[in-house]
Amino acid sequence: MPQWLNDSVFYEIYPQSFYDTNGDGIGDINGIIEKLDYVKGLGCNAIWLNPVYDSPFMDAGYDVRDYKNVAPRYGTNDDLVRLFDEAHKKGMKILLDLVPGHTSDTHPWFLESKKAQKSEYTNRYIFTKSVWDAPPQYRMMCGICERDGNYLVNYFSSQPALNYGFHEITHPEWQLPCDHPDCLATVEAIKDIMRFWLDKGADGFRVDMADSLVKNDDEKVATAKIWRGIREMLDKDYPEAAMVAEWCNPERAINNAGFHMDFYLDHHGNGYSRLFRYGDDEGNKGIFNPNGKGDIKNFTDEYLPAYELSKNNGYISFMTNNHDMPRMTHYFGMDAIKLAYAMIFTMPGVPFLYYGDEIGMKYQENLVSKEGGFSRTGSRTPMQWNSGKNLGFSAGDTPYLPVDTDENAPTVENQQNNPDSIYKVVTDIIAIRHANDDLHGNGDFEMIFEPGKFPFGYKRGKFVMLFNPLGKDSEIEINAKGVKKVYEIGTTEVADNKVKMSAQSFVTVSYTHLRAHETDSY
Ligand code: NOJ
Repeated sequence: MPQWLNDSVFYEIYPQSFYDTNGDGIGDINGIIEKLDYVKGLGCNAIWLNPVYDSPFMDAGYDVRDYKNVAPRYGTNDDLVRLFDEAHKKGMKILLDLVPGHTSDTHPWFLESKKAQKSEYTNRYIFTKSVWDAPPQYRMMCGICERDGNYLVNYFSSQPALNYGFHEITHPEWQLPCDHPDCLATVEAIKDIMRFWLDKGADGFRVDMADSLVKNDDEKVATAKIWRGIREMLDKDYPEAAMVAEWCNPERAINNAGFHMDFYLDHHGNGYSRLFRYGDDEGNKGIFNPNGKGDIKNFTDEYLPAYELSKNNGYISFMTNNHDMPRMTHYFGMDAIKLAYAMIFTMPGVPFLYYGDEIGMKYQENLVSKEGGFSRTGSRTPMQWNSGKNLGFSAGDTPYLPVDTDENAPTVENQQNNPDSIYKVVTDIIAIRHANDDLHGNGDFEMIFEPGKFPFGYKRGKFVMLFNPLGKDSEIEINAKGVKKVYEIGTTEVADNKVKMSAQSFVTVSYTHLRAHETDSY
């Protein structure tokens, strides 16, 4: 396990929207290098970079055409290596985005695979035996290749699924078992790409749709086996490299598949929505929604078992947002968002901050889709640096996506000078996290809550974090001694037995003795 993860706070950079240094209206790698000190100044000591590889950008680069070359619009491989080096000099790490489940339909492997002529790439993708064979349970592109067969897609139509085989074989005439040499060759090809970038200085990977490799693998056992093999490669040859899964099932991703981290996302049945959204279809309301209709139990029921199962093997990663979800500003006001972020940066695990969330960038409604973004486009708009042209994002006349036109648009410049800003809360709390081992990834954690009640909180070593998400004052009993206020949002009054909290407030206290539950002794 790479030790550096325990005190890491990640910053997610969507490269096309971060900082443009050559005036073409698209962010670039040199722009990221120029802004490394800014990222470090936030307290983020690691970066997850969305795909920077050559691509036709039908899905923002998640449709890879060449895994081993940087897209010219972002720069060159040398620029990326320079980014690794500059980051390392500042004590920062860089994770690239690995897309193992599919490629672009313009990838040379696919161009060979779809030919009638057989080659070593014939089975690199999943084709049926003939175009008349299209079982409805699979998402297929039909009748568009020279080759007589339909192919399986993994996401959009332009993203054919790579072939790692089938766990349950229902159509033996075209489904290969996972141990077929051609499926093993796909695994080797992905390992080769990983080695290529790790040898150049990358610190690991965020893994796209990590659970999607083997088909008909309901329990994900065969998919997990592939990742275990990859983890063995890392442990042996790159023990400092880290992998974070887009999986959202810590037991499978961390315990079974060997990922170091797994994201906590808005997938169905997951507590993210119950915390940071209005709620879900079953009527569970978001905890930070000030209407007070949320119930912390909806979150704890889901999170605590996953945490207990995985805590000795890896980290659950909370995130302020990512490039696939509407930013939190779409749902909540700034007071609620400050509390939500206070939670994200004080929970165990390894937290992730999405670019622009630290200044409260808005989710831009009704934008025309760009590069396969669709409703996600509104969370992908250019970073807002200052009051200059294009809010400092680009000196070009036509940024590839419009910048926020609101005259009160938040920028780094105006947020840094505002003592009430979200920027201040984010940087203050991340600094407190780094300064105290108790708040690091694997530090102690125990919830303090009563179902259906607010405030709620949790104990982390010598600290207690308490949250009152309600739109009115409230108080909580804590059974402690030597209580001292460390940090607050809103107004709180702390005493050994009781903490009074104003509407939508947060407080961190330290203590000398605490009983988290009636049955505990001091
Ligand atoms: C998940 C990525 O986060 C998303 O942006 C992408 O469209 C899909 N995977 C497909 O690669």
